[in-house]
Amino acid sequence: MSALTVLKFGGELLETDERRGAMATAIRRMAKRTSVVVVHGGGREVDADMAVHGIEKRAVDGLRITDAPTLDIVVGVLAGRVNTRLVATLGSIGVHAVGLTAADGDIASVRMAAPYAAADGATVDLGFVGQPTGGGSRLIEMLCAAGFVPVVASIGASDDGQLLNVNADTLAGHLAASLGADRLLIAGGTAGVLDPDGATIPAVDDALMDQLIGDGRASAGMVAKLVACRAAARSGVARVDIVTGKQTDNLDTSAGTRIEVPPVGGSESTES
Ligand SMILES: Nc1ncnc2c1ncn2[C@@H]1O[C@H](COP(=O)(O)OP(=O)(O)OP(=O)(O)O)[C@@H](O)[C@H]1O
Ligand SMILES: [Mg+2]
Repeated sequence: MSALTVLKFGGELLETDERRGAMATAIRRMAKRTSVVVVHGGGREVDADMAVHGIEKRAVDGLRITDAPTLDIVVGVLAGRVNTRLVATLGSIGVHAVGLTAADGDIASVRMAAPYAAADGATVDLGFVGQPTGGGSRLIEMLCAAGFVPVVASIGASDDGQLLNVNADTLAGHLAASLGADRLLIAGGTAGVLDPDGATIPAVDDALMDQLIGDGRASAGMVAKLVACRAAARSGVARVDIVTGKQTDNLDTSAGTRIEVPPVGGSESTES
């Protein structure tokens, strides 16, 4: 697709009316210049609902280990509350948004993730977690061409109809690659990748990424983010940034980290 930005929001940017309003304004601003596909998480709200139901959270490198009761909560919170609320906020400022999951119109094909090789060397069964593998761009292209902004909750379905929880950064990276986006912009609660002193690391290349993940300076959700950014950059997404969504409603001027990983010729990597 020509001039397409995949814009991912961490759930904490979408919780309060004020933050969500600012992010909706950011989306509207960007959508005036380029096609925009929004992907969102909602990790903290899922955590809160799990606590209400007395379900313990387990995660590895930012990937939620998802048993059946956890999956029910993830689907309800992400595809239900978080997605519809953002679509409604966008509508209130004149942006015609369409709420979807990755299961709609084969936006992304997803299969149950293989046992995960964690940064600490352990191998972990993630349960009902989905790994995007392919998918079609037709529905997204139709929506964008008609002036709609697709808003995709990070839920997918396997070929045999099983709903699966997909990490939102993983899905955003996959969609950026599969849709041929020129830009992947991941907005979260921190000003990009931080060093142990709390300063933003301005740029991360392949070697630094391995160091950050290897020595634990990047952990939890940041590991999933970096790995997703690397996969997208390798697949040819020209510009990949991790920025804060907290300082401004103009994400082009947000402080953050540029991912500087070269494309790998002809690869359609969807590694996560
Ligand atoms: N070096 C680092 N720099 C910044 N954040 C880091 C770093 N290492 C670990 N983190 C953690 O990663 C978190 C971001 O990932 P997390 O999955 O929690 O949020 P998100 O992906 O933005 O939201 P969601 O999961 O709702 O989509 C940060 O809040 C921080 O706790
Ligand atoms: Mg996350």
